[in-house]
Amino acid sequence: MFVGLANVRVPTLQVGATYDVIAPPGSNARVLYGQIPPGSVLAVPLPAAGAVGGHHRLPRHLPGLTIAGRSVAAMAPAPAGPVLLICGSLRAGSTNAAVLRTAADLAAAGSVATDWYDGLAGLPAFDPDDDHDPLPAPVADLRARIAGAGAVLVCTPEYAGDMPGSLKNLLDWTVGGVEIEGKPTGWINASALGGAVGTHAALRTVLTYTGAAVVEAAAVAVPVVRQAVGDDGRVADPASRTAIGAAVAALVAAAAEAQAGATA
Ligand SMILES: Cc1cc2nc3c(=O)[nH]c(=O)nc-3n(C[C@H](O)[C@H](O)[C@H](O)COP(=O)(O)O)c2cc1C
Repeated sequence: MFVGLANVRVPTLQVGATYDVIAPPGSNARVLYGQIPPGSVLAVPLPAAGAVGGHHRLPRHLPGLTIAGRSVAAMAPAPAGPVLLICGSLRAGSTNAAVLRTAADLAAAGSVATDWYDGLAGLPAFDPDDDHDPLPAPVADLRARIAGAGAVLVCTPEYAGDMPGSLKNLLDWTVGGVEIEGKPTGWINASALGGAVGTHAALRTVLTYTGAAVVEAAAVAVPVVRQAVGDDGRVADPASRTAIGAAVAALVAAAAEAQAGATA
């Protein structure tokens, strides 16, 4: 029996094998979207080769979870990678995109790589029946980009009282995969006048459900009015830039911590 699976990737376990998963007291473990009563022992069959991910993931992000039958030392650590930038707005003059462009600049100034996710509009509508290998190409790309990232930063507007449907669709596609679990993740609410509070609360709910590791210092509000976006598509205001840079720094620190924990 082994403890400490926070950074274990399902594909590193033996495909096709069955593992006993034990939910520790007080945990809220779930498998196949269901709940595991604390203290219960479940046999979880891993999917066949080529179908890893899907709906058969293990609740590996839960501290204290134990699995019988496999050495932790034999499991691969999560790779380090760039900060994946996901914008919930497709609008050309988007203030949210301006915030993320600014974040990318500030990251680059600190020699931190970023990866701009530009596939939002090309994702198919989520369909559980398609959530298996071979995945639709845009979904495979999304999951690969998340898997390769050290952290994720989301910046999104609110539409009609909630996050854009396209962003929720993206997040729905992450639920059946393992890539986002334990991934340091934050968001910047760029809405002016304190707007979009409900959207960012919903973002927290959904990201928590997917198993992302929410970095509180990177879950911040940095209000940006459209007039504050320069011709270069960046935010020039020093206070805003400081706040955006601090969020990026918090994500980078969390990614480094996760990486150190994975290789320890
Ligand atoms: C159809 C539509 C619905 C909107 N609904 C809301 C809303 O419910 N709450 C809110 O705070 N802003 C709402 N807004 C305003 C946008 O969130 C705001 O313009 C935001 O800056 C757009 O982000 P972007 O500049 O990155 O595209 C709405 C805008 C549109 C076009």
